[in-house]
Amino acid sequence: MCGIVGYIGNKSVVDILLDGLKQLEYRGYDSSGIAVRCPDKIKVYKAVGKLENLSAELMPHRSEISSATIGIGHIRWATHGAPTALNAHPHTCNCGNLVLVHNGIIENYKELREKLTALGCVFKTQTDTEVVAHLVARKYAETKDLTEAVRMATKEIEGAYALCVLHNDEKDKLVATKRNAPLLVGIGEGEYFVASDVPAIIKHTKKAMYLADNQIVTLTRNSMKLIDENGTELSQKVEVLPWEPVALSKMGFKHFMLKEIHEQPDVIRNILVGRMHSCDEPVVLNEVNLTKETLKNLNRIQIIACGTSLHAAMIGKYIIENFCGIPVDVEASSEYIYRKTVTDSHTLVIGVSQSGETADTLTAIKQSKAKGSHILIITNRPDSAMAREADSLLSVNAGIEVSVAATKSYIAQLVSFYLLAMYMAEIKGSLAESDLKSLKAELMQVPQKIEQILSNKEQIQHCAKVYANTKDFIYIARGINFPTALEGALKLKEISYINATGYPAGELKHGPIAMLDNTMPVLSILMKGSVYEKLLSNSEEAKARDARMIALTNSKDEKLKDLFENIIEVPDVQELLSPIIAMIPLQLLAYYIAEFLGKDVDQPRNLAKSVTVE
Ligand code: M6R
Repeated sequence: MCGIVGYIGNKSVVDILLDGLKQLEYRGYDSSGIAVRCPDKIKVYKAVGKLENLSAELMPHRSEISSATIGIGHIRWATHGAPTALNAHPHTCNCGNLVLVHNGIIENYKELREKLTALGCVFKTQTDTEVVAHLVARKYAETKDLTEAVRMATKEIEGAYALCVLHNDEKDKLVATKRNAPLLVGIGEGEYFVASDVPAIIKHTKKAMYLADNQIVTLTRNSMKLIDENGTELSQKVEVLPWEPVALSKMGFKHFMLKEIHEQPDVIRNILVGRMHSCDEPVVLNEVNLTKETLKNLNRIQIIACGTSLHAAMIGKYIIENFCGIPVDVEASSEYIYRKTVTDSHTLVIGVSQSGETADTLTAIKQSKAKGSHILIITNRPDSAMAREADSLLSVNAGIEVSVAATKSYIAQLVSFYLLAMYMAEIKGSLAESDLKSLKAELMQVPQKIEQILSNKEQIQHCAKVYANTKDFIYIARGINFPTALEGALKLKEISYINATGYPAGELKHGPIAMLDNTMPVLSILMKGSVYEKLLSNSEEAKARDARMIALTNSKDEKLKDLFENIIEVPDVQELLSPIIAMIPLQLLAYYIAEFLGKDVDQPRNLAKSVTVE
């Protein structure tokens, strides 16, 4: 989390920094700040809350800083210390000469803080970052060389960091480094950019260099020098970014989330192009290197992910086991990395991540890679850190997702799992030709079915109004749609802050049923198929406890009208593909409830789009 930008060149730096931070807002948005080099000294400005507050804060100072052409900026997602102006970055040493921004977590900050306090440093903030400012400043006092000071300081730091550093006494220099946090340098004509991610620099340059861990780059207006942690100079691997600048527009929608929900039919069409030509031809996944031999040697598959991607992974397990007969375990990355996992070269490890950056998933992937597992990454960012670890890559091509609540990337992950499972089933010969054909035929119809839902939103908007003021919400489902219940509940809680929970319906009577009364909405994801009747009985049990019953269903059964207070109808679809269709109304329900309650839909409180700390 947190985004950093830096610039050294001949253009006015303030707007470059503010625009760069705007592009990185998905990484955090609780406070922000910039430091710009003015003729007399480096000046620091900070503001709590959204980036527009920083712009407002800068207004009265614009004339005095407009000529500055070197600067650094930061947008924060608080880890250590509340989101206050004091804790916002940039941070400085005691004399104010050394100024830096940081993304990551300094794990040994307590020890460093004690040590530095004993040496006379006075701490002003509650952040872990401030120790780095004091530490680099002390090294600078010894060396009088900013690069060397950074190099020496990072030897004492444990944890994750991307740093961008300026010093009052080094007038034409910007130093940056990283370990376990992303950072790249954009290369222009007589200018350099530093950023946590491509969108912050792409409108200025396509030429860039990704920093590897422990590398330190020293930038002046006309030079770039790269060294390793021992000070040895390295050759620079400059690449051309396969990106086009995109103007992020809501295209007339009130929020990015609503726009992204509406993009889902085209997202699916995009994924299928070139990968599924017709019902009679095999699935083509060029970047996936799973041969018959590899598949034959597999004992099992482990899928690791977080949040929404974890829910996609749970559906992935269901589909792969069903189509391929290979046992699949699914685990939250944050749990996976802190136990003794059994994985080896006979295990296929699949990492699922929209951003390709999530710290826990990245660590889990690296751990399994070290044990010899084949790593397959399903991501929306083929240029991400996770993608760089992949033996096989499945890029979901959903396009940039701005809203923090994942919608189109989730549907794209699901479709990717269908393609992968069919692809593996075709190699293994584990699924009947007729089943494959019918799945492919119906998958190609799914975009139109989603369009039907999107053009008939009244019933969902009606439900949103009816239930918007509830304190709690329960989603129930069985089988392949249990993860849909979890994802529906996650969508609602993250953008409306309503306490929503998803349960496998058979579990209700083992405890949660005690919560039911006439104030509790229970939404039953009642899709036709193997568990329909079972779920109907579970819904009856909830109704008998007076719960306010809602059905999301593709059934036309008249008796549902007696059981459910509200019914959200969706187009018919076979059970195995129903998680895609069932999810769309749940995204919309969460959206309309949050919108009705006046919440900040695209940037909900306390969240960030990219979770780069463990
Ligand atoms: O980028 P990732 O898919 O790895 O992110 C994982 C979660 O942080 C993410 O899915 C999160 O749960 C979303 N906010 C859900 O809408």
